[in-house]
Amino acid sequence: MSEYAEGAMPETNDAKTTLIIGAGAVGLGLASCLHRAGRRIHFVVRPGPGPHPLEVRGLRRTGILGEARIAPDAVGISRSFSALPRLDIDAILVCTKSSANPELAPALASHWRSLPQPVPVVVCQNGWGNAEIFARDLPPEHVASASILTGFRRSEDHAVEITVHARAIQIGCLYSGELQSLEPLCAAIDAGGIPCETSASIEADLGAKLLYNCLLNPLGALVGVPYGRLGEEAPTRAIMEAVAQEVFAVWGAGRFQVHWPDAERYLEVFYADLLPPTADHESSMLQDLQAGRPTEIDSLCGAVVALGQKFQVATPVNSALLELIHAAERRARPDKT
Ligand SMILES: NC(=O)c1ccc[n+]([C@@H]2O[C@H](COP(=O)([O-])OP(=O)(O)OC[C@H]3O[C@@H](n4cnc5c(N)ncnc54)[C@H](OP(=O)(O)O)[C@@H]3O)[C@@H](O)[C@H]2O)c1
Repeated sequence: MSEYAEGAMPETNDAKTTLIIGAGAVGLGLASCLHRAGRRIHFVVRPGPGPHPLEVRGLRRTGILGEARIAPDAVGISRSFSALPRLDIDAILVCTKSSANPELAPALASHWRSLPQPVPVVVCQNGWGNAEIFARDLPPEHVASASILTGFRRSEDHAVEITVHARAIQIGCLYSGELQSLEPLCAAIDAGGIPCETSASIEADLGAKLLYNCLLNPLGALVGVPYGRLGEEAPTRAIMEAVAQEVFAVWGAGRFQVHWPDAERYLEVFYADLLPPTADHESSMLQDLQAGRPTEIDSLCGAVVALGQKFQVATPVNSALLELIHAAERRARPDKT
């Protein structure tokens, strides 16, 4: 057995291919699972010079949910949709940051329409309103969303570390109650080492992740401390609690599906159960700012502000965080303003 085959089911000749858009932390992590479960993997990556590191070194996964490897010749790479070979695709996973969506969605939809049969497109992104962008160009019942409370870190261009795992990945569709078409994908991710299940309450699952991210990501980036410290000091606690109150007010006005009755109950759970396991984590938004990359603030606090405008609910604290992160982005990327 080669080192690459260790722990993996062999691909069969009739194995389906899962198309993964974006070979970042989440894309690599999910690919490692699907390959272990016997599926073929093909990535669409951004254009770049020379062979992609995955084509040279294969894929390596380490971390708390076990190790996995994929040999270089078992990883398919295309640098655009038009360069894709003919593949028997069973699902498409969108694993880019949400800032890529406006450009990506029309190109993905055009490719999706060329496939011989409809396949689910699963948006594996944090934030609110991402699936809606893809559902403008695709039949909404084929656009699913994943709520991911697993932490992935791309340690090298071909390597991912799973650093934390809080709950099974939830995959469901905001536009249809049909979950059967998502079950094979969930079963494969699960078999590959990351617990994963279909969800009939994906709106509430995405909302739960939105809340967690709105409370911690922007403030963690602005203050520059790990998440746990934000819960230790009165001023940062007050800001997080105000963010939660605004999100619950917006959800109440919009009659959204929610896992907690009110902000007070959520905050009890947040401080007791959700914050402690990630106390040492630094905000990925801070890393984006430091690297001069766009952040996902528009699909986090920006989405709350937009919902507040729609339902006439004041969201001054989310609005302030949105503006402060935009200012930090302009400072980090002066050429992009
Ligand atoms: N990392 C986590 O622990 C985690 C957990 C839960 C949810 N999420 C969410 O999952 C999403 C992905 O996060 P991530 O951490 O995997 O981000 P990431 O490591 O930055 O990966 C995103 C990848 O997408 C690529 N990309 C961007 N635009 C593209 C395009 N048009 N075509 C093809 N590839 C493109 C990027 O390429 P370049 O390298 O060239 O920029 C990068 O490789 C985000 O919404 C994030 O919030 C992340």
